[in-house]
Amino acid sequence: MEKPLIFLSKIISFQSISTDFKKKKEILDLVKFLRNFLIKYGFKIKLLGKNCPLIIAEKFVSSKAKTIGVYSHYDVQPVDPLNLWQTSPFKLTVKGEKIYGRGVADDKGHLTQNIFAVLNLLKEKNLKNNIVFIFEGEEEIGSKNFSSYLDQALDILKKIDLFFITDLGMIKKNVPTIYYSLRGIVYFEIEIWTGKKDLHSGVYGNLVYNPSQILFELFTKMRDLRGKIRIPGFYQKVRHIKDKEKKMLIRNVKSLREIKKIVEVFALNPLDKNYSAISAKIYPSLEINGFYSGYIGEGSKTIIPSYAKAKFSLRLVENQDPKEILILVKNFIRDNIPKGVKYSLKVLSQAKPFFTDYNHPYIMKTVKILEEEFKNKCVFMREGGSIPAASILLSKFKKPTILTGFTLEGANIHAPNENMDLDLFEKGIKVLSKIYNLDF
Ligand code: BES
Ligand code: MN
Ligand code: MN
Repeated sequence: MEKPLIFLSKIISFQSISTDFKKKKEILDLVKFLRNFLIKYGFKIKLLGKNCPLIIAEKFVSSKAKTIGVYSHYDVQPVDPLNLWQTSPFKLTVKGEKIYGRGVADDKGHLTQNIFAVLNLLKEKNLKNNIVFIFEGEEEIGSKNFSSYLDQALDILKKIDLFFITDLGMIKKNVPTIYYSLRGIVYFEIEIWTGKKDLHSGVYGNLVYNPSQILFELFTKMRDLRGKIRIPGFYQKVRHIKDKEKKMLIRNVKSLREIKKIVEVFALNPLDKNYSAISAKIYPSLEINGFYSGYIGEGSKTIIPSYAKAKFSLRLVENQDPKEILILVKNFIRDNIPKGVKYSLKVLSQAKPFFTDYNHPYIMKTVKILEEEFKNKCVFMREGGSIPAASILLSKFKKPTILTGFTLEGANIHAPNENMDLDLFEKGIKVLSKIYNLDF
């Protein structure tokens, strides 16, 4: 049998960037590769959708056995800025104790671990549970078809007794972590047109609107510098977290100093000074993800631009509904754009926050294996990032949904030099084998 690292290096070499429609062929080539590979090991495959198909791969053992759904995604984020990569992003590189490449942490590394965890059991003729892999190709663009694809495979999926979502990390090396909450998201793109062409800023300054200025004012009205959101009604439904829980979380995360060093920022700006290190995990947020207007070339150009564009997104916590927040933001923008100025507001993606009770016997059994393997107490954590599939699977099937993974804080997901610990890559396979063979 092929080595997991060789397999990972093969799938890393496919540039499966879901947001880039020029990469359609790369995506379909990767799907074909995964499909053929899994067929070779006796999986029954179903592909759903055309562009970035959902792969469902079923390994049936017995109707008396439990059925485990295992989720990962095979799409990745773009690699720019390329000049900041120290290795070639689509060439898996082992350097020191880490492996580098786009997707090694998010999420092709975990996908590989899942496949080999099961293959190793098959090789030993010892697979005790039925396995259904659910490999998504649109996670990084908001999983807009995920729910409808699932509906097309209900015959297989409704037999599943519990789900594992392996698209996260460990809070510290060798500290196994299970996530009971993820933030949701609504992602917007806004464009503003104040006229048909740029104007001389000396001749027309003070007479016409400047679209950059309109966007600045919109953003400062929506959010202050620290991160407090000012849109009326935004916090209304937020389920507030008790101090006891916040204390439990803060005890288990890295110190502010460590975080600052790892993420290489020049200054921190926490929303809640009492709970700085978990401010991104427990509160909603609004971030401008990109901004463009006017002239940014060499030297100066004295113009009033006629066009501005920005991308921004809000992360939501439990009890906030992306559909309601979307309307709140739409209305707020409508009411705050000066009359006569043209604009367009698009929603690019949305996901509900995920929240689940972690006192379930299946989770406790999983914890026991994780703790034995990593020789540390398991930590229950909230995560600030979003995985649309988590809340979709939980609300559709209402089965225990266990979120975990093996990447570390410095994994550089979505950034240059994405990496995974080689040691955790290998340990992950071993521990997942044990978990997927548990007598649930
Ligand atoms: N794997 C991440 C989510 C994540 C981030 C988990 C950080 C743990 C730590 C996932 O692939 C992701 O990037 N999700 C997007 C979803 C969005 C495009 C709808 C996100 O959070 O931005
Ligand atoms: Mn991911
Ligand atoms: Mn991601």
